[in-house]
Amino acid sequence: MSEFKVAPANASAGVKLLTWVDNRFPATKLWKEHLSEYYAPKNFNFWYFFGSLALLVLVIQIVTGIFLVMHYKPDATLAFASVEYIMRDVPWGWLVRYMHSTGASAFFIVVYLHMFRGFLYGSYRKPRELVWIFGCAIFLCLMGEAFMGYLLPWGQMSYWGAQVIVNLFSAIPFVGPDLALMIRGDYVVSDATLNRFFSFHVIAIPLILLGLVVAHVIALHEVGSNNPDGVEIKADKDENGIPRDGIPFHPYYSVHDLMGVAGFLILFSVVVFFWPEGGGYFLESNNFIPADSLKTPPHIAPVWYFTPFYSMLRATTDEMKPVFAIAVGLATLLGLLKGRFGSAGKAVMVVAAVLVIAGLFRLDAKFWGVLVMGGSVLILFFMPWLDRSPVKSIRYRPGWHMAIYAVFVAIFLVLGWLGTQPPAPIKNIVSQVGTVMYFAFFLLMPWWSQQGSFKPVPDRVTFHAH
Ligand code: HEM
Repeated sequence: MSEFKVAPANASAGVKLLTWVDNRFPATKLWKEHLSEYYAPKNFNFWYFFGSLALLVLVIQIVTGIFLVMHYKPDATLAFASVEYIMRDVPWGWLVRYMHSTGASAFFIVVYLHMFRGFLYGSYRKPRELVWIFGCAIFLCLMGEAFMGYLLPWGQMSYWGAQVIVNLFSAIPFVGPDLALMIRGDYVVSDATLNRFFSFHVIAIPLILLGLVVAHVIALHEVGSNNPDGVEIKADKDENGIPRDGIPFHPYYSVHDLMGVAGFLILFSVVVFFWPEGGGYFLESNNFIPADSLKTPPHIAPVWYFTPFYSMLRATTDEMKPVFAIAVGLATLLGLLKGRFGSAGKAVMVVAAVLVIAGLFRLDAKFWGVLVMGGSVLILFFMPWLDRSPVKSIRYRPGWHMAIYAVFVAIFLVLGWLGTQPPAPIKNIVSQVGTVMYFAFFLLMPWWSQQGSFKPVPDRVTFHAH
C-alpha cells in the first residue's frame, strides 16, 4: 500500500475529498496514466477520431438500449407490437429507437474506418498485436450483438434472417443439426429463440464487449499509440523520460476528439431525424411486417454491414471447389519447396492436403461456405503476422501498395452491394471472383507486402502546425 497523503489544512473541500479517495482508490493515478500524462504522438490525423467515436457509439447504444428494454417485450406474440408502441406511444420512444437502430449502422461504419486506419498505418504490427487481437474479438462480438439484436423487433426480416443464418450451422458435419437446434432452442426460430437472443443481446455480449474494450485500451496504453508515420515515439525520450514527439492526451486530444464528436453528431442527427431507414439499408422495409413463419419473403438479405461476408457465403457453390482444391495444392507445393520441414513434416503436409481436397469434394458446398464466411473474419486476427513489410505506415511503402488497398476496399464494397441483391448468374461470378481476391489479399500478403522499394522512415514524426 502506498503512503497515506494528507491534504493541507487550508485546502478546498474538493481537494480534501480527492485526497481521501486517492488514499483508497487510484483516481488521480489512473487519470494521469490514461489521460493527462498519457503521451500520444503529436501527428494524429482524422483517422484517429474513430477510436473515441466507437466509444461514443458504444455509450449511445448502451444508454438507448436501457430505455428500450423498459418498454420492449421479449415475447413472440408481443415483441413486434411493443416496438410499434415504443415508436408511437412512449414519449420520445421514436427517438430512442431510431438512435439505437441508426447507432447499430453507425457502429459498423466507425469500426470499419477504425480498422482501415490500422491497415493504413500498420497499427497491428509489433508491439500492438494484442491491441489488434482484442479489436478483432470486439468485432466478432459486435457481429454477434447486431445479429441477435436484429431478431428482437420480430419483423419478417428479423425472423427469416435468423432462420437462414442459424440453419447454416446445421451444415457442419456431425454436430451441425444438434448445434442449430441448441442455438434456436426449437426446430424453427421461435419464442425460445427470441428469449435467448434477448438475453445474449442485452446482457451477455455487452458484458464481454465492455470487458474487451477495456482490455483493448489498456493494451494500447501499455505500448503507446502508433501514428500516421509508423514511428515509435517511445524510442526518442527527453531527459524526463517523456517522448519528444508526444503530447498529453488531455487536454490536447480530448479537445481534438471533441471536434470529431461534433462532426459525428451532426451526421448522426441528420440520419436519425431525416433518414432513419437509410434507404432501406439501416431499417429494411420487410421488417415493418410482423414475422410470419408461414410466409417466406421473396428476397432475404442481412443488414448492409454483414453483406460482404454473406456474399462470400453465397459465392461458395460447387463450382468453387476446384478453385479451392487448386489453392490448397499450390499452398502445399509452396510449403514443400520453401518451408523448412523435415521428411515427416512434409509427409504430414501432403496427407493433410489430400484429406482437405477429398473433403472438399465430399462435403456439401454449404459447409465450405460457412467456413469461408467464418474464415473471412477470422483471417483478420492473423494480420500482425501476415504483413511482412519492412515499414509500418503506407506513407513509406511503394505507391502500388496503396493501389492494392484501394482494390481491396473496392472488392469489399462490391461484395457488400452484391450481398444485398437477389442472386443472378453474372452477380454470382463477380462475387466468386471477389471472394478469391479477398482471400488472395490476405494469403499472399507475406509475399507482396515485402515487394517494391520502400522510402526511408524518418526518426521523428512529420508534423505541420495548423
Ligand atoms: C467497440 C469497438 C472499439 C472501440 C470502442 C475501440 C476503441 C479504441 C480507442 C479509444 C483507441 C485509441 C484511439 C485511436 O487510436 O483511435 C483504439 C485504438 C486502436 N484500435 Fe480500437 N476500438 C474498437 C474496435 C477495434 C477493432 C474492431 C479493431 C481491429 C480489428 C481495433 C484496432 C485498434 C488498433 C490497432 C488501435 C491502435 C491504433 C494506433 O495506435 O494507430 N479497434 N481503439
